[in-house]
Amino acid sequence: MADLEGIKVAHNYYKDVPFANNQPFYVKGANHLDWGMKKHLSNIFDENSGNTVMFAFDHGYFMGSAAGLERLDLVVPKLLPNIDVLMGTRGALRSCVPAQGRKGIALRVTSGSSMLDEDLSHEVLAVDIEDVIRMNADCMAIQTFIGAEGQLSSLDNLSKAVNLGVRYSIPTMGVVAVGKQMERTDRFFKLATRIVAELGANIIKTYYCENFEEVVSACPVPIVVAGGKKLPEKEALELAYQSISQGARGVDMGRNIFQSENPVEMSAAVRKIVHEGFTDKEAYEFYQDMIHQ
Ligand code: R5P
Repeated sequence: MADLEGIKVAHNYYKDVPFANNQPFYVKGANHLDWGMKKHLSNIFDENSGNTVMFAFDHGYFMGSAAGLERLDLVVPKLLPNIDVLMGTRGALRSCVPAQGRKGIALRVTSGSSMLDEDLSHEVLAVDIEDVIRMNADCMAIQTFIGAEGQLSSLDNLSKAVNLGVRYSIPTMGVVAVGKQMERTDRFFKLATRIVAELGANIIKTYYCENFEEVVSACPVPIVVAGGKKLPEKEALELAYQSISQGARGVDMGRNIFQSENPVEMSAAVRKIVHEGFTDKEAYEFYQDMIHQ
């Protein structure tokens, strides 16, 4: 109990000042969520820029040890200064990533296929909600396969995760997969992102495409753009810039960072675009200056 000696009498009630904490929440589509959800979303999206730099290193869940991710314990820590959110599996996070620090966690919670499969679209919801809570995850990443054989089971996984997420105030990130059979048109991405959002995902990870602004506009929650296959650094920065300038609230890049010859410098350049309004040209100059120092 507090020491009561010398206690001051409360008298500053500011009766004429309106209650301060009544501002709309800054994350798209999240205004009506509860406090716990908003807290997790604010661990993902920066309050000033509204954006996020996610680092995707969950490839091992179906690819095993991908080139550039052979030693997660060495790769991940050096990128941390430029990253807001780590997107990984519970196995990788627990074994290779330091628990200290304030990085957001996007926990990969679906799995079930491997790159040896012809069809990668069959996954299950593999991580119990109790373990999501134990990992202090800020969102659950669920792969969705619209238009593929595994569509039904992937949307079942998504819906189950949303139900559990709502119960425990943990946001869900729906990841729009593109497979061999799926087109990469704005028509497809408008369809897929909207379905995933309407089923309750709080964040959508998808690909950049033509008419991207229309995809963003029709999607009621924030979109983060997937990096995709490794591109030359200049082109990857162009992708990040096009995405952000056309309404994405972040990027979730894997190979374009960890397979770069200069992953730290690349992540720093991406961060300039996402949070500081750099153009792709400015970010590439920044990248070049950093590697020539
Ligand atoms: C994407 O859908 C998967 O989750 C990947 O494992 C990963 O996140 C992809 O990252 P990137 O395409 O940027 O290497």
